[in-house]
Amino acid sequence: MNILSLIKSRRSIRKFKKKPVDPEIINLILESGRWAPSGLNNQPWKFMVLSDDRKEAVSKYTKYFSIIHEADKIILIFLDKNVSYNYEKDLMAIGACIQNMLLYIHENGLGACWLGEILNRRKDVQSFLNVSDDLELEAVIALGYPLGIVKKRERKFYEELIIK
Ligand SMILES: Cc1cc2nc3c(=O)[nH]c(=O)nc-3n(C[C@H](O)[C@H](O)[C@H](O)COP(=O)(O)O)c2cc1C
Repeated sequence: MNILSLIKSRRSIRKFKKKPVDPEIINLILESGRWAPSGLNNQPWKFMVLSDDRKEAVSKYTKYFSIIHEADKIILIFLDKNVSYNYEKDLMAIGACIQNMLLYIHENGLGACWLGEILNRRKDVQSFLNVSDDLELEAVIALGYPLGIVKKRERKFYEELIIK
């Protein structure tokens, strides 16, 4: 698929088959994230992959618990404050890192949903997982093999976006 078709056909996937994702594919998903651009190339991201009881426990911290419950795995993305040089730019880099992973996931026949609402309970999630305060949870990606047909999502027209 060319890159524009790939970008345009990616959808948030919220329902998944009961089919495990190969750990080798998970490594490649992280690899795609690892190659995202970042300010000063500081690469301010850290990842945690969960597929066990801890995944289920994390689901309790979001109203989107069913997405996490259905997903084969979740990837938690943290900002590493030890290498942070500019909070705003580091968050942008983390967004690029996440989008890289979402596109890689889609290209390989898997599906994912970027979960942000869970950040309302960031402190609780981090404390449950015993994650150091040097790290700050920025997103959770729920992923697996897509189940069913996904509703098409529209985008704003160019005319609404271009400032003249
Ligand atoms: C920063 C961010 C936070 C999001 N948080 C959630 C979330 O908590 N729950 C959810 O179901 N979807 C979440 N999404 C997915 C968006 O709802 C979705 O990307 C948007 O509706 C466009 O749909 P599409 O991804 O299928 O194109 C989030 C997306 C982003 C970028």
